[in-house]
Amino acid sequence: MTHIKTFIFAGASSAIAKETAKLLQNKGHKVVGISTKPKDDTFDNWYQIDQYDFGKFPDIADAIDGLVYFPGTINLKPFARLTAAEFTTDWQVNSLGAVAFVQSYLNNLKKAEEHASIVFISSVAVQTGLTFHSSIAMAKGALEGLTKALAAEFAPAIRVNAVAPSLVNTPLGNKFLNTPEKVEQMQKRNPLRKVGEPKDIAQAITYLLLEESAWVTGQILAVDGGMNVIKN
Ligand SMILES: NC(=O)c1ccc[n+]([C@@H]2O[C@H](COP(=O)([O-])OP(=O)(O)OC[C@H]3O[C@@H](n4cnc5c(N)ncnc54)[C@H](OP(=O)(O)O)[C@@H]3O)[C@@H](O)[C@H]2O)c1
Repeated sequence: MTHIKTFIFAGASSAIAKETAKLLQNKGHKVVGISTKPKDDTFDNWYQIDQYDFGKFPDIADAIDGLVYFPGTINLKPFARLTAAEFTTDWQVNSLGAVAFVQSYLNNLKKAEEHASIVFISSVAVQTGLTFHSSIAMAKGALEGLTKALAAEFAPAIRVNAVAPSLVNTPLGNKFLNTPEKVEQMQKRNPLRKVGEPKDIAQAITYLLLEESAWVTGQILAVDGGMNVIKN
Protein backbone atom coordinates (compact mmCIF):
# COMPACT_ATOMS: atom_id res chain seq x y z
CA MET A 1 0.00 0.00 0.00
CA THR A 2 1.26 3.49 -0.82
CA HIS A 3 2.24 5.75 2.05
CA ILE A 4 -0.45 8.36 2.89
CA LYS A 5 1.07 11.79 2.36
CA THR A 6 0.20 15.18 3.84
CA PHE A 7 0.50 18.40 1.85
CA ILE A 8 0.12 22.07 2.82
CA PHE A 9 -1.40 24.51 0.34
CA ALA A 10 -1.08 28.27 0.87
CA GLY A 11 -3.78 30.32 -0.86
CA ALA A 12 -6.11 27.35 -0.49
CA SER A 13 -9.28 29.20 -1.58
CA SER A 14 -7.87 29.16 -5.15
CA ALA A 15 -9.99 27.20 -7.64
CA ILE A 16 -6.83 25.40 -8.82
CA ALA A 17 -5.89 24.60 -5.18
CA LYS A 18 -9.29 23.03 -4.49
CA GLU A 19 -9.14 20.93 -7.65
CA THR A 20 -5.61 19.76 -6.74
CA ALA A 21 -6.72 18.87 -3.19
CA LYS A 22 -9.53 16.71 -4.59
CA LEU A 23 -7.16 14.83 -6.91
CA LEU A 24 -4.76 14.12 -4.03
CA GLN A 25 -7.56 13.08 -1.66
CA ASN A 26 -8.91 10.69 -4.33
CA LYS A 27 -5.52 8.97 -4.11
CA GLY A 28 -5.85 8.76 -0.30
CA HIS A 29 -3.64 11.71 0.66
CA LYS A 30 -4.41 14.58 3.06
CA VAL A 31 -4.30 18.31 2.32
CA VAL A 32 -4.06 21.16 4.85
CA GLY A 33 -5.25 24.56 3.60
CA ILE A 34 -3.90 27.97 4.62
CA SER A 35 -5.90 30.95 3.40
CA THR A 36 -6.98 34.50 4.12
CA LYS A 37 -10.57 33.20 3.61
CA PRO A 38 -12.84 31.21 5.97
CA LYS A 39 -12.66 27.38 5.95
CA ASP A 40 -13.34 25.48 2.75
CA ASP A 41 -14.66 21.99 3.46
CA THR A 42 -12.65 20.43 0.64
CA PHE A 43 -9.61 20.45 2.95
CA ASP A 44 -8.74 18.05 5.79
CA ASN A 45 -7.57 20.92 8.00
CA TRP A 46 -7.65 24.70 7.62
CA TYR A 47 -5.81 27.72 9.03
CA GLN A 48 -7.03 31.23 8.33
CA ILE A 49 -4.27 33.86 8.37
CA ASP A 50 -4.31 37.60 7.61
CA GLN A 51 -1.46 37.77 5.09
CA TYR A 52 1.24 35.70 3.38
CA ASP A 53 4.29 37.06 5.17
CA PHE A 54 7.12 36.16 7.54
CA GLY A 55 5.88 35.22 11.03
CA LYS A 56 2.28 34.83 9.78
CA PHE A 57 2.18 31.09 9.04
CA PRO A 58 0.85 28.78 11.80
CA ASP A 59 3.19 26.34 13.56
CA ILE A 60 2.56 22.77 12.41
CA ALA A 61 4.55 19.97 14.07
CA ASP A 62 3.91 17.03 11.71
CA ALA A 63 6.04 15.71 8.87
CA ILE A 64 4.89 17.25 5.59
CA ASP A 65 5.40 15.64 2.16
CA GLY A 66 4.89 18.70 -0.01
CA LEU A 67 4.02 22.38 -0.26
CA VAL A 68 2.21 24.36 -2.95
CA TYR A 69 2.10 28.17 -2.91
CA PHE A 70 -1.02 29.39 -4.79
CA PRO A 71 -1.46 33.12 -3.94
CA GLY A 72 -1.25 35.29 -7.02
CA THR A 73 -2.45 38.47 -8.68
CA ILE A 74 -3.29 39.55 -12.25
CA ASN A 75 -2.83 43.31 -12.29
CA LEU A 76 -2.45 44.17 -15.98
CA LYS A 77 -1.74 47.81 -16.87
CA PRO A 78 0.51 49.88 -19.13
CA PHE A 79 3.94 50.04 -17.49
CA ALA A 80 3.80 53.83 -17.00
CA ARG A 81 0.54 53.56 -15.03
CA LEU A 82 1.70 50.93 -12.56
CA THR A 83 2.48 52.50 -9.19
CA ALA A 84 5.29 51.57 -6.83
CA ALA A 85 2.65 50.26 -4.42
CA GLU A 86 1.23 47.92 -7.09
CA PHE A 87 4.68 46.55 -7.99
CA THR A 88 5.34 46.02 -4.27
CA THR A 89 2.03 44.22 -3.66
CA ASP A 90 2.51 41.92 -6.65
CA TRP A 91 6.05 41.12 -5.50
CA GLN A 92 4.88 40.52 -1.93
CA VAL A 93 1.97 38.22 -2.82
CA ASN A 94 3.59 36.26 -5.66
CA SER A 95 7.26 36.01 -4.61
CA LEU A 96 8.13 37.02 -1.07
CA GLY A 97 5.09 35.24 0.38
CA ALA A 98 6.38 32.02 -1.21
CA VAL A 99 9.73 32.52 0.54
CA ALA A 100 8.02 33.03 3.91
CA PHE A 101 5.86 29.94 3.31
CA VAL A 102 8.75 27.62 2.44
CA GLN A 103 10.90 28.91 5.32
CA SER A 104 8.02 28.24 7.72
CA TYR A 105 7.73 24.55 6.79
CA LEU A 106 11.22 23.50 5.73
CA ASN A 107 11.76 21.51 8.92
CA ASN A 108 8.44 19.70 8.34
CA LEU A 109 9.58 18.72 4.82
CA LYS A 110 12.86 17.37 6.22
CA LYS A 111 10.85 14.95 8.41
CA ALA A 112 9.08 13.40 5.37
CA GLU A 113 9.47 9.62 4.97
CA GLU A 114 10.06 9.86 1.21
CA HIS A 115 11.50 12.78 -0.78
CA ALA A 116 9.35 15.89 -0.33
CA SER A 117 8.24 18.19 -3.16
CA ILE A 118 7.58 21.93 -3.47
CA VAL A 119 5.51 23.41 -6.32
CA PHE A 120 5.14 27.09 -7.23
CA ILE A 121 2.62 28.57 -9.69
CA SER A 122 4.23 30.86 -12.25
CA SER A 123 2.68 32.30 -15.43
CA VAL A 124 3.15 32.11 -19.22
CA ALA A 125 4.02 35.82 -18.98
CA VAL A 126 7.55 35.06 -17.72
CA GLN A 127 8.83 33.12 -20.75
CA THR A 128 6.68 35.03 -23.28
CA GLY A 129 6.64 38.82 -23.36
CA LEU A 130 3.02 40.02 -23.07
CA THR A 131 1.81 43.64 -23.17
CA PHE A 132 0.71 45.10 -19.78
CA HIS A 133 2.24 42.18 -17.83
CA SER A 134 5.37 43.93 -16.48
CA SER A 135 4.50 43.68 -12.79
CA ILE A 136 3.24 40.10 -12.79
CA ALA A 137 6.04 38.96 -15.13
CA MET A 138 8.60 40.43 -12.71
CA ALA A 139 7.02 38.88 -9.64
CA LYS A 140 6.53 35.44 -11.19
CA GLY A 141 9.98 35.66 -12.82
CA ALA A 142 11.45 35.93 -9.34
CA LEU A 143 9.48 32.83 -8.38
CA GLU A 144 10.98 30.92 -11.33
CA GLY A 145 14.46 31.97 -10.21
CA LEU A 146 13.61 30.81 -6.70
CA THR A 147 12.42 27.46 -8.12
CA LYS A 148 15.80 26.75 -9.70
CA ALA A 149 17.89 28.06 -6.80
CA LEU A 150 15.98 26.01 -4.21
CA ALA A 151 16.00 22.92 -6.45
CA ALA A 152 19.80 23.11 -6.34
CA GLU A 153 20.04 23.93 -2.65
CA PHE A 154 17.55 21.30 -1.42
CA ALA A 155 18.64 18.41 -3.70
CA PRO A 156 18.57 15.49 -3.23
CA ALA A 157 16.15 15.61 -0.28
CA ILE A 158 13.48 17.95 -1.63
CA ARG A 159 12.41 18.52 -5.25
CA VAL A 160 11.30 22.01 -6.35
CA ASN A 161 9.36 22.74 -9.54
CA ALA A 162 6.87 25.25 -10.92
CA VAL A 163 3.85 25.12 -13.21
CA ALA A 164 3.35 28.01 -15.65
CA PRO A 165 -0.24 28.35 -16.91
CA SER A 166 -1.73 30.71 -19.47
CA LEU A 167 -5.28 31.95 -18.90
CA VAL A 168 -7.33 29.64 -16.68
CA ASN A 169 -11.05 29.85 -15.95
CA THR A 170 -10.93 30.83 -12.22
CA PRO A 171 -12.14 33.91 -10.28
CA LEU A 172 -8.68 35.48 -10.87
CA GLY A 173 -9.01 35.02 -14.64
CA ASN A 174 -12.71 35.98 -14.75
CA LYS A 175 -12.13 39.60 -15.81
CA PHE A 176 -10.88 38.26 -19.16
CA LEU A 177 -13.64 35.67 -19.55
CA ASN A 178 -16.83 37.35 -18.33
CA THR A 179 -18.58 37.61 -21.71
CA PRO A 180 -18.98 35.00 -24.50
CA GLU A 181 -17.05 37.35 -26.82
CA LYS A 182 -14.05 37.48 -24.46
CA VAL A 183 -14.07 33.68 -24.08
CA GLU A 184 -14.08 33.27 -27.86
CA GLN A 185 -11.26 35.79 -28.27
CA MET A 186 -9.15 34.06 -25.61
CA GLN A 187 -9.78 30.63 -27.14
CA LYS A 188 -8.65 31.96 -30.54
CA ARG A 189 -5.39 33.29 -29.05
CA ASN A 190 -4.48 29.87 -27.67
CA PRO A 191 -2.74 27.33 -29.97
CA LEU A 192 -5.05 24.56 -28.73
CA ARG A 193 -8.05 26.96 -29.00
CA LYS A 194 -8.93 26.41 -25.36
CA VAL A 195 -8.90 28.40 -22.12
CA GLY A 196 -7.45 26.36 -19.25
CA GLU A 197 -9.67 24.77 -16.62
CA PRO A 198 -8.52 24.36 -12.98
CA LYS A 199 -8.22 20.60 -13.53
CA ASP A 200 -5.66 21.08 -16.35
CA ILE A 201 -3.31 22.77 -13.89
CA ALA A 202 -4.25 20.57 -10.91
CA GLN A 203 -3.21 17.42 -12.79
CA ALA A 204 0.25 18.89 -13.46
CA ILE A 205 0.67 19.97 -9.82
CA THR A 206 -0.39 16.51 -8.62
CA TYR A 207 2.19 14.92 -10.92
CA LEU A 208 4.94 17.19 -9.54
CA LEU A 209 3.96 16.45 -5.92
CA LEU A 210 3.92 12.66 -6.17
CA GLU A 211 6.48 9.94 -6.89
CA GLU A 212 5.61 9.81 -10.63
CA SER A 213 7.91 12.86 -10.96
CA ALA A 214 10.64 11.46 -8.67
CA TRP A 215 13.40 12.36 -11.19
CA VAL A 216 12.12 15.86 -12.00
CA THR A 217 13.44 18.95 -10.24
CA GLY A 218 14.24 22.58 -11.08
CA GLN A 219 11.70 22.58 -13.94
CA ILE A 220 9.14 25.13 -15.06
CA LEU A 221 6.33 23.05 -16.57
CA ALA A 222 4.29 25.06 -19.09
CA VAL A 223 0.62 24.01 -18.95
CA ASP A 224 -0.73 26.55 -21.39
CA GLY A 225 -2.04 24.94 -24.59
CA GLY A 226 1.36 25.58 -26.19
CA MET A 227 1.11 29.35 -25.74
CA ASN A 228 4.77 29.88 -24.76
CA VAL A 229 6.29 28.09 -27.76
CA ILE A 230 3.75 27.93 -30.61
CA LYS A 231 2.36 30.49 -33.04
CA ASN A 232 -0.34 29.07 -35.36
N1 LIG B 1 -6.23 32.08 -13.53
C1 LIG B 1 -5.27 32.33 -14.41
O1 LIG B 1 -5.52 32.72 -15.55
C2 LIG B 1 -3.84 32.13 -14.01
C3 LIG B 1 -2.85 32.22 -15.01
C4 LIG B 1 -1.52 32.07 -14.64
C5 LIG B 1 -1.18 31.86 -13.33
N2 LIG B 1 -2.18 31.78 -12.37
C6 LIG B 1 -1.78 31.59 -10.98
O2 LIG B 1 -2.52 30.55 -10.38
C7 LIG B 1 -2.52 30.74 -8.96
C8 LIG B 1 -3.87 30.39 -8.40
O3 LIG B 1 -4.85 31.32 -8.84
P1 LIG B 1 -6.28 30.89 -9.41
O4 LIG B 1 -6.27 31.12 -10.87
O5 LIG B 1 -6.66 29.55 -8.88
O6 LIG B 1 -7.21 32.03 -8.85
P2 LIG B 1 -8.33 32.12 -7.71
O7 LIG B 1 -9.19 30.91 -7.68
O8 LIG B 1 -9.00 33.42 -7.97
O9 LIG B 1 -7.46 32.22 -6.38
C9 LIG B 1 -6.73 33.39 -6.07
C10 LIG B 1 -5.52 33.04 -5.23
O10 LIG B 1 -4.76 34.19 -4.96
C11 LIG B 1 -4.81 34.52 -3.56
N3 LIG B 1 -5.00 35.98 -3.53
C12 LIG B 1 -5.75 36.73 -4.34
N4 LIG B 1 -5.59 38.03 -4.10
C13 LIG B 1 -4.70 38.12 -3.12
C14 LIG B 1 -4.11 39.20 -2.43
N5 LIG B 1 -4.39 40.47 -2.70
N6 LIG B 1 -3.24 38.93 -1.46
C15 LIG B 1 -2.93 37.66 -1.18
N7 LIG B 1 -3.45 36.60 -1.82
C16 LIG B 1 -4.33 36.82 -2.77
C17 LIG B 1 -5.91 33.66 -2.97
O11 LIG B 1 -5.54 33.28 -1.65
P3 LIG B 1 -6.62 33.11 -0.42
O12 LIG B 1 -6.86 31.64 -0.25
O13 LIG B 1 -5.95 33.71 0.73
O14 LIG B 1 -7.86 33.85 -0.87
C18 LIG B 1 -5.86 32.44 -3.90
O15 LIG B 1 -4.78 31.59 -3.57
C19 LIG B 1 -2.05 32.19 -8.75
O16 LIG B 1 -0.71 32.19 -8.28
C20 LIG B 1 -2.10 32.80 -10.13
O17 LIG B 1 -1.15 33.83 -10.31
C21 LIG B 1 -3.49 31.90 -12.69
